[in-house]
Amino acid sequence: MNIDKIRQDIRGLSDGKIFLNNAGSSLMPIPVVDSMIDYLQQEEQFGGYEIANRNAELLEQFYEETAKLINCKSSNIAFATSATEAYAMALSSITFKEGDVIITTVDDYISNQITFISLKKKLNVKIIRMKNLPDNELDLEDLENLIKQYHPKLIAVTHIPTNSGLIQNVEAVGKICKKYDILYLVDACQSVGQMVVDVEKISCDFLTATGRKFMRGPRGTGFLYVSDKVLEQNYAPLLLDMRGAHWSAFDDYELFKTAKRFEHWELSYASLLGFTEALKYANNIGMHAIEHYNKGLSERLRENLKNSGFQIWDQGNNLSSIITFCSPDGDLENIQKVLKESNVFFSVTYKNSALIDFTNKNINGIVRLSPHYFNTLEEVEKVSNILRIIL
Ligand SMILES: Cc1ncc(COP(=O)(O)O)c(C=O)c1O
Repeated sequence: MNIDKIRQDIRGLSDGKIFLNNAGSSLMPIPVVDSMIDYLQQEEQFGGYEIANRNAELLEQFYEETAKLINCKSSNIAFATSATEAYAMALSSITFKEGDVIITTVDDYISNQITFISLKKKLNVKIIRMKNLPDNELDLEDLENLIKQYHPKLIAVTHIPTNSGLIQNVEAVGKICKKYDILYLVDACQSVGQMVVDVEKISCDFLTATGRKFMRGPRGTGFLYVSDKVLEQNYAPLLLDMRGAHWSAFDDYELFKTAKRFEHWELSYASLLGFTEALKYANNIGMHAIEHYNKGLSERLRENLKNSGFQIWDQGNNLSSIITFCSPDGDLENIQKVLKESNVFFSVTYKNSALIDFTNKNINGIVRLSPHYFNTLEEVEKVSNILRIIL
């Protein structure tokens, strides 16, 4: 991995900032931004329809690059405007009835939890959260017992929560879902682009991701993976449009075969193209190399902060490039002040975004640093030294 070249590809680094908010919204590489500007200028000259036609082959590369990234076929991929939209499209294709059970985890993303609660309020669906073991790993025995007791319609797991460095064991859950033939939805919003994500190994029916975080794409982009099994069983969004089906008779339609049936007809092709460039960029470097590098950076940063006396809140056997921490007395203000003064980019998560996790941890919030492969060990040391002075 040529870090110098990778850093030269980021106009946003020219002012010397240290950017450690890749779990929020990362810095786009130059080819991503330039491809969008170029596409918009073409639209400016000839209109969006003409330019989409002229660039049809190029635009198809989005599906190929995404498929390459997560190890599936391009026919399994739908473009989405966000991870949340992809998630909603997937959920809407499942016909929930009163009493149906969704099993999820205590660490699933806030919006997923709110969506499940909405299904509970509207359709009387039951939400059950599998337990965590004392080491914060998923309790798979509990999961099997819950499956036998409740026969769930869906199991939904967030691969990497937004608010802790945990990596949940989605592969092990996938094996269990396969054994009991249960629909399996994985939120890979924080893992795609950060580490290797392989849908064959995870063995899921749906997987969702966003463009702007570790993928380094533009805002307003994301994707949904839909398995062949689910496509063959004619799952489709509740509110389908002409992107999803052929209007075959006055009162009938025929579903299109590929996962594109989960898209809406109208979308920003400039954004899709920018996202495609980001996917190409990651694929060219290689996700194994990116994962390996990220592990090195995040372990060093976590270790440094711990050694300085900060309270680290990442709990689990397998941790990600998200480092969450606070001062020993729980203070976040001083950390934020010092980081801002030093031109370090970070984010803060409060209890309302991680209600169950932070209640269990008995904390009100954390500072989150999320390094990525364009960061250097020198930057990690610099930030560690800046923070060490506070304590
Ligand atoms: C784990 C996780 N899932 C889903 C989302 C939602 O992504 P989007 O805002 O693209 O819908 C986020 C965003 O922070 C996230 O961290």
